[in-house]
Amino acid sequence: MSDVRTRFDLQPDQIPTAWFNLVPDMVKAGMQPLPPLSPQTKEPMGPADLAPLFPESLIMQEVSAEPWIDIPGEVIDIYRLWRPSPLFRATRLEQALETPARIYFKYEGVSPAGSHKPNTAVPQAFYNQQAGIRRIATETGAGQWGSSMAMACSMFGLECDVYMVKASYEQKPYRRVFMETFGASVVASPSDKTNSGRAILEAQPDSTGSLGIAISEAVEDAATHEDTNYALGSVLGHVLLHQSVIGLEAQQQMEMAGERPDVIVGCVGGGSNYAGLAYPFMADKLRGDASMRFLAAEPAACPTLTKGRYAYDYGDTAAIGPIVPMYTLGHDFVPAPVHAGGLRYHGDSPSLSMLVHEGHMDAVAYTQNQIFEAAVLFAKTQGIIPAPEPSHAIKGAIDEALAAKEAGEERVILFNLCGHGHFDMQAYDDYLNGRLPEVEFAEADEDAALANLPEVSIPV
Ligand SMILES: Cc1ncc(COP(=O)(O)O)c(C=O)c1O
Repeated sequence: MSDVRTRFDLQPDQIPTAWFNLVPDMVKAGMQPLPPLSPQTKEPMGPADLAPLFPESLIMQEVSAEPWIDIPGEVIDIYRLWRPSPLFRATRLEQALETPARIYFKYEGVSPAGSHKPNTAVPQAFYNQQAGIRRIATETGAGQWGSSMAMACSMFGLECDVYMVKASYEQKPYRRVFMETFGASVVASPSDKTNSGRAILEAQPDSTGSLGIAISEAVEDAATHEDTNYALGSVLGHVLLHQSVIGLEAQQQMEMAGERPDVIVGCVGGGSNYAGLAYPFMADKLRGDASMRFLAAEPAACPTLTKGRYAYDYGDTAAIGPIVPMYTLGHDFVPAPVHAGGLRYHGDSPSLSMLVHEGHMDAVAYTQNQIFEAAVLFAKTQGIIPAPEPSHAIKGAIDEALAAKEAGEERVILFNLCGHGHFDMQAYDDYLNGRLPEVEFAEADEDAALANLPEVSIPV
């Protein structure tokens, strides 16, 4: 039996009691947040402009300059169902790679939905219920966010309508059943329930959908129903804030392991799981107390950070939601239907985009077959079948470990295993049987989409 410790658990009373907001540290480091703009006037939006979509408490979190925001007791009670989540050292993967690197991962697949998404679904449902809202409209890409919101809504007595990206709706039928088990209604997006869905279906009857399209449908639904609010599973500041529980726990657990990470890796769709892990550590770096690197991994089929433009763009395809400053491939860019459905988003969180733009974070893109090769090696060594999304982080961590071996150096790698892949068996079947196309990113599609950016530029 090996005496190397591979699991680091916190006690139930070590769940963080406040969320961490990186914005004050970014401001001190010269990175002032840029406001969202109104899609109608292209002028900065104030808190009141967001009121048709979100409850006031979440809007105040969105614009907060406070470093810490207390987590309500009702939310902590539900977090206790799966938090604190474990942190592991992947010694069996290290051995397979014959690397001197030490690889650690935070595992968010222990949540009821199987990913990090309930960390924000629960507080979002809580604050909406407190504000007297009856129904939530939302989108889902991989199905993880819809599952989390369906669960959270059922816990707080809210109705939940989910617009599920058609590619995922077809690839993952049991995610739909998961959501329906919690009482949610699920439709494939684009749908004929909304003006934006009908317009897309008319132009492209075979559309596989995208997160941008599904967001348009859910935003329209919420904006046109008084008793309904919208909930977003990523991108926005309050979502990243709620996910900070991941990094706050991981900091305590890395301390238990007696380690400081040299590099922190995560997959990025809209940026929430990676920000959740990375931002508490990023604060140390911005304050000059640490010097680690940050690596964001994304799909080559939707390479927002590596090939996108840093610009103001609409967060949704129909251009009805706020215009935000971010890396974007263009709001009407529809990524190929790769299996990492949660990463098929044309944009990224504004704060994460700014950190990349200012050189505090690097980004890398991988193809589907590359990430499934990494996922299968991880499953065979560590026993967990990962979701396709965090398999991008696994590939990044493996490449870092191999680079450390090449350089003959010890390197401490920490990555976020933000979800399991138990509903992704179709994807694994396709990979194992050689049916996964190595999707090429179509620059011409991006050029066409970037031509439709709103005419406002980011001040330099
Ligand atoms: C398992 C999983 N990982 C990652 C993501 C990407 O989102 P984010 O970048 O906000 O973490 C999703 C989104 O649906 C997801 O389901």
